[in-house]
Amino acid sequence: MGLVNLNNLVKEYQDSGRAKFTAVKGINLEIEQGEFMILVGPSGCGKSTTLRMIAGLENVTSGTIEIDGRVVNSVAPKDRDIAMVFQNYALYPHMSVFDNMAFGLKLQKFPRGEIRNRVHEAAEILGLESMLERKPKQMSGGQRQRVALGRAIVRKPKVFLFDEPLSNLDAKMRVQMRTEISRLHSRLQATMIYVTHDQVEAMTMGDRICVMKEGEIMQVDDPISLYQHPNNIFTAGFIGSPPMNFFSGKIEKEGNRFSFVEENMSAAPFRLSLDDRLTALARNFSGRKIMMGVRPEDIGLRRQASGCEVDAEVMVVEPMGSETYLYFNTGRHDFIGRFPSENHHRIGERARVVMDIDKIHLFDADTMKKVS
Ligand SMILES: Nc1ncnc2c1ncn2[C@@H]1O[C@H](COP(=O)(O)OP(=O)(O)O)[C@@H](O)[C@H]1O
Ligand SMILES: [Mg+2]
Repeated sequence: MGLVNLNNLVKEYQDSGRAKFTAVKGINLEIEQGEFMILVGPSGCGKSTTLRMIAGLENVTSGTIEIDGRVVNSVAPKDRDIAMVFQNYALYPHMSVFDNMAFGLKLQKFPRGEIRNRVHEAAEILGLESMLERKPKQMSGGQRQRVALGRAIVRKPKVFLFDEPLSNLDAKMRVQMRTEISRLHSRLQATMIYVTHDQVEAMTMGDRICVMKEGEIMQVDDPISLYQHPNNIFTAGFIGSPPMNFFSGKIEKEGNRFSFVEENMSAAPFRLSLDDRLTALARNFSGRKIMMGVRPEDIGLRRQASGCEVDAEVMVVEPMGSETYLYFNTGRHDFIGRFPSENHHRIGERARVVMDIDKIHLFDADTMKKVS
């Protein structure tokens, strides 16, 4: 039993016209005490709606939300023991940093000494002690977001909810705040639910990641498992940058051997003879359409005994400094490989590319699910 449980949670929005739109389609999720859970997915997939239902800012259409063993569907937001941090800080411009942080506690009639202690404790954690008398407009975006965090911390809530809190910050500040929030999580041992569309944020911050698409959960797992064992094409393509490469094709059987044959009308399709692992996966797919996935780092340029060779044209060379991305085309599929910085490939030249057969993923092209 998690600290926060979502059970068959549904949200329908009724448009002003007659159309009904289901933004969240019956999701189930358990968030453990002390866990940092990330909800990630493209814009419009229902992340904020889910978080706002947990916060009580949005009515639930059906299903239940439990916090610490209690169904809170009809409990007012202020009585749910949660604190939410938004993208746009939502600070009171005319109040000092101290008063912004103290505001919620004052409303709840906390004793003045207790308020002072909690604000100073939060300010110390966030490095804001010297700024308690400032107004928000005298602070940078990163400092303002820290005040918004402080306002949540002083409440000592059961659950922290974050909705894309770093989106308004510049890239450098975002990276810095990312580590600060992670550190905050381990220092407070707090339960946090964090919404982002950014898969790098998800990977670097989450204990577990819940990948969403169009109101449904695609997969919930820890970052490395999600990366190494995606259950479906969506998760495989969403987590990782540059993303996993996909090749459509079919499985052919010749005697006892199975091969993956690329679908390619404009050039000679590449063939990959399957090893024992892939044969076991694909033997029921003979003659059927399949998607092969391989990550950019599992592609090489040297011959390897266990590799699958593909003849491809170099389309783009992208030096990143620490490594170089090469963009290839087989005549049908574009794909990306990550290579050491020193390589001598030129645009327009042909290359023998080797894919690590141990790292190849197979997906059912009809169901989009991992073949297992
Ligand atoms: N108040 C609303 N009325 C109607 N549709 C809404 C409302 N809020 C959100 N939606 C729709 O619900 C879907 C999910 O929205 P949201 O939860 O904000 O997505 P995300 O946070 O993942 O970007 C979107 O298609 C959005 O347009
Ligand atoms: Mg959102």
